[in-house]
Amino acid sequence: MSVDTSVDLGGLRLRNPVLTASGTFGYGAEFAPFLDLRRLGGIVSKSLTLEPRSGNLPHRIAEAHAGMLNAIGLENVGVDAFIREKIPALAAEVVIVASVFGREIDEYAQACERLSESPRVAGLEVNASCPHVRSGGIEFGQNPQLLASLVRAVRRASAKPLLVKLSPNVTSIAEMAKVCEAEGADAISLINTLQALDVDLETRRPKLRNGLGGLSGPAILPVALRMVWQASRAVSIPVCGIGGIMTAEDAVKFLVCGATAVQVGTASYLNPAAAGEIADGMVDWASRRGVSRLADLIGTLQPWS
Ligand SMILES: Cc1cc2nc3c(=O)[nH]c(=O)nc-3n(C[C@H](O)[C@H](O)[C@H](O)COP(=O)(O)O)c2cc1C
Repeated sequence: MSVDTSVDLGGLRLRNPVLTASGTFGYGAEFAPFLDLRRLGGIVSKSLTLEPRSGNLPHRIAEAHAGMLNAIGLENVGVDAFIREKIPALAAEVVIVASVFGREIDEYAQACERLSESPRVAGLEVNASCPHVRSGGIEFGQNPQLLASLVRAVRRASAKPLLVKLSPNVTSIAEMAKVCEAEGADAISLINTLQALDVDLETRRPKLRNGLGGLSGPAILPVALRMVWQASRAVSIPVCGIGGIMTAEDAVKFLVCGATAVQVGTASYLNPAAAGEIADGMVDWASRRGVSRLADLIGTLQPWS
């Protein structure tokens, strides 16, 4: 049985609902030897800043039960090098979403403006949620007034489809989602990593040089499903679900909970072809159950009566 896999994520027309998550897939080309990137709905770049950044000192990652901790500190090549060197390395059919980060609202807006000038950038994902840089990130993602100002500024800076990536480290994800919708975001991505800490008992120091880090991987999947469900019920713009997706079944669960598309993150560290296999697996899952359009699964979670 043939399955229609196309979805519309806030104006981003995707051939299937599977993208790769920011920071876990480099700039795309690194993974081209392992999978045909044209099999994916799209790729989301590492978060880009106006100027290049070298990130935090090591150790920057550590294993956790059913996941990993990271505090990379937003190492990236910067917006200009991304446009000049990284985009041309990707085949024309690859849908590119540029993730953007800034220490201040104006930096975010300038980065969005510059990225929007590239015809290859199909959409922007504003990272309002990075939990381990000293300024920015966490403040924007956790404070509704700051979040509103940020979304308003980047909305003015770009006419491209605008996704805002939210922090899970908040009391009410529904409230933050509503702020994004009110300020003109086209879609919401969630979740980023959960703020976390682990300890090296021999030294009694945090495992990460930064102290705190972000937890990702299968450990966070049920938290992410809960937040996608809550956010998607609070707004009418689409939601892109992220968090612990390892299999096609995990991805289908996000659609059922209200996501229009998903992003695969930590799974790519275990298997660089994971995102492609998950996209193919969703088709198998649907065709075995007589589902002819993946989009028909969105928001179909049934309540207990
Ligand atoms: C090593 C690493 C680096 C990350 N860097 C970024 C980043 O630059 N920007 C961003 O928005 N999210 C970043 N994330 C968060 C992921 O995009 C994703 O939201 C999170 O890992 C949850 O998904 P997962 O459990 O599938 O990994 C990073 C995650 C990891 C593990």
